[in-house]
Amino acid sequence: MKRMQIFEFTDLPWWPEVLRSLLTDFLELLMKVTQPFSPKISLLTEVMKETKQTRFVDLCSGSGGPWLSLIKDLQKISGENISILLTDKYPNSERAKKLNPISGLNYFPYSVDALAVPSDLKGIRTLFNGFHHFPPDYAFDIINDAVKNDQPIVVFEILQRTWFDFFYFMLTPINLLLLTPWVQPRSITRLILTYLIPIAPIVVSWDSLVSILRCYTPEELMNMAHQTNAKHYIWKTGKYRHKGLPVTFLVGYPAKEK
Ligand SMILES: C[S@@+](CC[C@H](N)C(=O)[O-])C[C@H]1O[C@@H](n2cnc3c(N)ncnc32)[C@H](O)[C@@H]1O
Repeated sequence: MKRMQIFEFTDLPWWPEVLRSLLTDFLELLMKVTQPFSPKISLLTEVMKETKQTRFVDLCSGSGGPWLSLIKDLQKISGENISILLTDKYPNSERAKKLNPISGLNYFPYSVDALAVPSDLKGIRTLFNGFHHFPPDYAFDIINDAVKNDQPIVVFEILQRTWFDFFYFMLTPINLLLLTPWVQPRSITRLILTYLIPIAPIVVSWDSLVSILRCYTPEELMNMAHQTNAKHYIWKTGKYRHKGLPVTFLVGYPAKEK
């Protein structure tokens, strides 16, 4: 299936935060319920161990994505005190206010473009469900910039570019209608925009289907990684299914000098 770069509502700079969070809050719940990255959590501990880092800089964070639940699992498995800095080009101000820094999670309140990460934001760079937003040249730049700054990079997407998953994701509105009462933060606006004026089902379904068309295959991700010519980097890529969800990933980190 050929990759297509079609717009998503969450890409639009003028798209209001209240509508943007209809998707990102839903995604946060979906990941809390399904834990799609848990089968590969060992990759995260491997990167931490091999690079001796316990700080993560998450790009394209939305409402926090998997980190809200993943941080506890990672802390337990690694035995480390982990800190996560969530960032987004369009930061979720509600989520930023509510996060408790003691938990290890902080939300940077200012815009951070994944294409121009400030060099003083050091840590393992993660992108959960954000990488497909970028066309190939920009996607490569994100990987290359991590390499130039000698930082590890971890890309995970609950996506695979197949016709099966395109048709499978047509079930998104049903999942959304069923799960919305549990999406946090609870709000009357969300209920109205889901059940009375069905903006949420339309927008979330559109962005999900387009995401399938825009995501990268493991082979394409590995090609980008190799184009960086970072011979000292260890790269791992692959795909799997977990609780019905398709997952694709790329992990790269500088190897320890022997
Ligand atoms: C599909 S959401 C994923 C959110 C979250 N990581 C998750 O897994 O639920 C994609 C996020 O990317 C953000 N985004 C889009 N373009 C961006 C850019 N150039 N730099 C940083 N964030 C961007 C959007 O604001 C949105 O929050």
